[in-house]
Amino acid sequence: MAKRVVLAYSGGLDTSVAVRWMREEWGVEVIACAVDVGQLAAGDEDMIRERAAAAGAVETEIIDAREQFAREFLVPALRANALYEGKYPLVSALSRPVIVEHLVASARRHGAHAVGHGCTGKGNDQVRFEVSTRVLAPDLDVMAPVRVWGLSRADCIELADKWEIPISASKEKLYSIDENMWGRAIECGILENPWSAAPEDPYTLTRATKDAPAEPTELVVGFEQGIPVSVNGVTMGLVELIETVGRTVGEYGWGRIDMVENRRVGIKSREVYECPSSLALILAHKDLEGITLERDLAREKQRIEIRIAELIYDGMWHTPLMRALGAFVDTTQEHVTGEVRLRLERGRCDAAGRRAPRSLYDHDLATYNADDSFRHQDSEGFVRLWGLSAETWSRRQGPGSA
Ligand code: ARG
Repeated sequence: MAKRVVLAYSGGLDTSVAVRWMREEWGVEVIACAVDVGQLAAGDEDMIRERAAAAGAVETEIIDAREQFAREFLVPALRANALYEGKYPLVSALSRPVIVEHLVASARRHGAHAVGHGCTGKGNDQVRFEVSTRVLAPDLDVMAPVRVWGLSRADCIELADKWEIPISASKEKLYSIDENMWGRAIECGILENPWSAAPEDPYTLTRATKDAPAEPTELVVGFEQGIPVSVNGVTMGLVELIETVGRTVGEYGWGRIDMVENRRVGIKSREVYECPSSLALILAHKDLEGITLERDLAREKQRIEIRIAELIYDGMWHTPLMRALGAFVDTTQEHVTGEVRLRLERGRCDAAGRRAPRSLYDHDLATYNADDSFRHQDSEGFVRLWGLSAETWSRRQGPGSA
């Protein structure tokens, strides 16, 4: 019997050609597996089945992983305010480990000996696919046809034509785009020059500022233990909530990122993202932590957040360190319950109010009114001791010793 491989299938040119190419070149049977993490639109399922079959897949599976993606991947990332290099909410990086979980499960169902992906050898995604596969199923091989086949885009189009795979791909590909519920990543084409301003055309989730509504609006996001649960008082499930927030924030023309980032493989890469929902939720969540996390806990958490973002980016989701740091973050979220008022104006999104039943904000302590409850007399001694070491240094060795 021919060996079988479960290929992460998008329905695009590369993975479609890969289905047939692997059969021809490597003699394997290919199971095409499309995992929906929010990138599929109405009608895409039929297109995927049709193309995979035409390319010669022995079977096609389409798995709706949106709910799981939101609950098991996006929530932990949100609780950790995870932003790679301080900016990128890890859209693609978060989706790879959940896709791998499904590829591996499918490989088990179909008695496959390998999983496959259509990543090139220059990116992060190969790292994420392969590290997760090695951890979850060390016995499975990984097949990466695109990394070895040496085909240009024109070659792929020619092969798709020859093999009668129904794909309408243009010779010139303007951008490479990856999309899911957490946002959209846009690379290649004119963006490869980091000095060129990104044109308007690749954006679909965010309006240009000039087209945003003139009237400001507000979104009140409710959280329970760091998990978003409601918008403007209406309780909703995560998938709907993420979409609802993204739609409004995107309409107001906020949520774009333009950056040069450091890939795991050592390359600097110009990336453009639009992440209205994830960025707004992280903004709101962080703001709520501002009144619900004790100071030292908040400071330590910030350090750990940076590390978590790096681990996610670097393909280390399924590792013991990630688990341990995730457990730390989980314990910090016990009282991150409350609401944040997000104010949207053209091209802007700001936290404009926050409240929490277990808020640490103590009005009687904070107020500048005379009837506060703060013990002013404690401050004098405290400040003197706080600065004592630096003062001693100054007297003996520094400016005060002259
Ligand atoms: N640079 C981002 C990352 O590494 C996005 C990658 C997007 N992938 C793609 N095939 N366009 O997470």
